[in-house]
Amino acid sequence: MQILRTVAELRHWSRQQRATGHTIGLVPTMGALHAGHASLIRAAAASCGAVAVSVFVNPTQFGPHEDYARYPRSFEADCAVAQTEGADVIFAPSVEELYPPGASTFVEVTGLSERLDGQSRPGHFRGVATVVAKLLIAAEPDRAFFGQKDAAQVAVIRRMVADLRLATEIIVCPIVRDPDGLALSSRNLYLSPAERAQALTLSRAIRQVESLVAAGERRAAALIEAANGLFSAARSAFAAVPAIRIDYIALVDWTTLEPVETAIPGTLFAVAAWVGATRLIDNAVIA
Ligand code: PAJ
Repeated sequence: MQILRTVAELRHWSRQQRATGHTIGLVPTMGALHAGHASLIRAAAASCGAVAVSVFVNPTQFGPHEDYARYPRSFEADCAVAQTEGADVIFAPSVEELYPPGASTFVEVTGLSERLDGQSRPGHFRGVATVVAKLLIAAEPDRAFFGQKDAAQVAVIRRMVADLRLATEIIVCPIVRDPDGLALSSRNLYLSPAERAQALTLSRAIRQVESLVAAGERRAAALIEAANGLFSAARSAFAAVPAIRIDYIALVDWTTLEPVETAIPGTLFAVAAWVGATRLIDNAVIA
């Protein structure tokens, strides 16, 4: 498996692959690869003849007080995962390669970028849209693979690809979880055992809402109240450690990220919460 460091190398590789008749898949990541990322690479390898995995901790999507400096970096292990799952190349550029000195061009998906995670992380989705646009322009993939785990990110990227009329198809893969239900995230590495126990409240809330929906409850207010109840219970149960703090619990249209009053198939139920200093997210798409 080759490691490419420049946009020119990635573009050259992609055009060569296309010339030999391969469809090209791109899996954008920030590294610290886990089984969630692996599932995206596997999906890409299953449907594309040539697969690139990008590993780039993108500075512009982190706020000034966020974890850019301490974000987990494990490049050698990442290469091993990517290779095992069927990647052909890893694209691992420097910051200067993707943001040349004086870079002042950004992609902003207005409206959507201020909702859900965008509300508590101002500028986050501008950084995501900008780097994903750069990656799509550089790799010219037929398909790019993203996780449902970051559901608001999916909405922003779909909007951007539609608005810029990019030729890449966006494929969304299911959330991979630990056996106890916790959605895999590179940031789970930050959790102490006590925090990890609290973190399970997110996936419990997701399951609770899924079972209420299955039992016929479709009212947003009732579903959100039930999830809120689980978080209140968790706060009393874990009184000794810093309590879990809700960022948002929302039932929204997955395209516009606007709140809805009634859940219909395809509606997004999403939660975000702070456990100590770590912010976690989870979601389900209503059946
Ligand atoms: P990162 O957090 O590394 O995630 C890379 C991809 O893996 C995203 O599409 C994310 O949704 C997916 N992913 C993460 N956890 C997952 C899980 N448990 N199950 C399934 N898929 C999962 O998301 C980013 O990086 C960045 O914002 C990026 C798009 C690379 C732009 O910098």
